[in-house]
Order: sequence, then C-alpha cells, then structure tokens
Amino acid sequence: TQAKTLVGRRVLLTAGPTFEPIDPVRGITNLSSGKMGYALARACRDAGAEVTLISGPTALPRPAEVHFIAAGSALSMHAAVMEAVPHHDVFIAVAAVADYRVANASAEKLKKTPGQAPTLTLTENPDILASVAALPRAPFCVGFAAESHNLLAHAQAKRERKRVPLLVANLAQHAMGADDNEIVLLDDHGQHPLPRMDKTGAARAIVAHLAGMLPIR
Ligand code: C5P
Repeated sequence: TQAKTLVGRRVLLTAGPTFEPIDPVRGITNLSSGKMGYALARACRDAGAEVTLISGPTALPRPAEVHFIAAGSALSMHAAVMEAVPHHDVFIAVAAVADYRVANASAEKLKKTPGQAPTLTLTENPDILASVAALPRAPFCVGFAAESHNLLAHAQAKRERKRVPLLVANLAQHAMGADDNEIVLLDDHGQHPLPRMDKTGAARAIVAHLAGMLPIR
C-alpha cells in the first residue's frame, strides 16, 4: 500500500503515444506503450490524489477511479490538456508526443498511384509540457526524458529549457514498452538515481519524491 501523500491534490497526466493522421486510415505514431504514465496515474490515485489521465491510443485498461480523456493527435492532446489544466495542481507529462504532424493530411483515403509516391510535409507540434510550464498560474510540472545516449546531460538541459522543477530521466532502450525502468530524478538539488525496478515501483518512488516537493497548503 502507498502512503497517502497526495490527499487533496489534483493531478493531471498525459500518457501513451500520439497518432498523427496521414489520411482517415493511416497515421504516424511511436512505440510508447503508456505503461509508465498509467502506472503513475494509479500511483497518484493510490496516494489519495484526484487524477485526470489524458491518454493517446494504448492497449491498456483504463485505471479505475481516474477521470479518463482519450486523445489522438498531439493537437487534440494539447487542447484537452489546456482545457483541463486550470483545475489541477500538478501536471505530469509522460506522453511520447510526436514532434511533428502531417501538414498535408488527406480528408480522403489516399489511393495508390503506381510510380507516384505521395510526399508528406511535416510541421511542428506544440510542446504541451512547455506550454503548461509557461502558464502564469502553472501547476507543479513534472517532465520525462527518454534518451538513447548522454542521458543526464540531455535530461538536465531539457529540464532547464522546459522550466520544470522535476524531470524524470530514463534510458530509451530500456523504457519503451518494457515493464521495468531505470530512472534518475533531476531537481534543483541535483541527481537522484533510483534502483532498477518495475514501473509500479518506479511510479511510487516518483510520487514520493514529488509529494515532498509540493508547496505546503
Ligand atoms: O523534448 P522531449 O519530447 O524529449 O521532452 C519530453 C517531455 O516533454 C515529456 O515529459 C513529454 O511528455 C513532454 N512533451 C510534451 N509535448 C511535446 C513534446 C514533449 O508535453 N510536444
């Protein structure tokens, strides 16, 4: 059982991949399973928080007793987060949001024309975490960084660039789709490595650290 360290806190999370349409039946996505974000949503709930989970498409069961909002594209996830965020004290961005979307997506299914491959034009998606962190009445923001190399240097730079007080760094090849995770928490006091553990254990450890950073009410 988990200590009730988040009683009275309202926590908003994003999880899973996004799906950027190419046409009505095709799209660009990534290998995020949603496991870490869902584990954190459950850990926050178990710590006594009121939880809203905004999720891209995943194969996971919806956590019980959590407000659930399904999102597809990065733009729809961004809109859902911006609408929900004023009612929350903490924002945890776990989703693997696509950096780009298809600017010339087709309203009709693309037909194959032999010898004429279509060209997809990409355009940048909004950075959901950075937008929330920049709000005048921003909630306490937590970011994730999955890196394949130079983990801590990239993660520390990301924490400063996105202006989040707490950033969870993990090695990408371990994290995506796996059941366990090796993570380092980065805050103003420096680096806090956690022992390798499953995502449920990692989520509880993140919640414990986060709870200790929240302003006393
Ligand atoms: O820059 P990068 O995508 O590696 O940063 C990861 C962190 O930023 C994660 O917390 C992720 O959920 C968040 N993010 C976001 N919107 C984006 C890109 C990343 O919220 N468009």
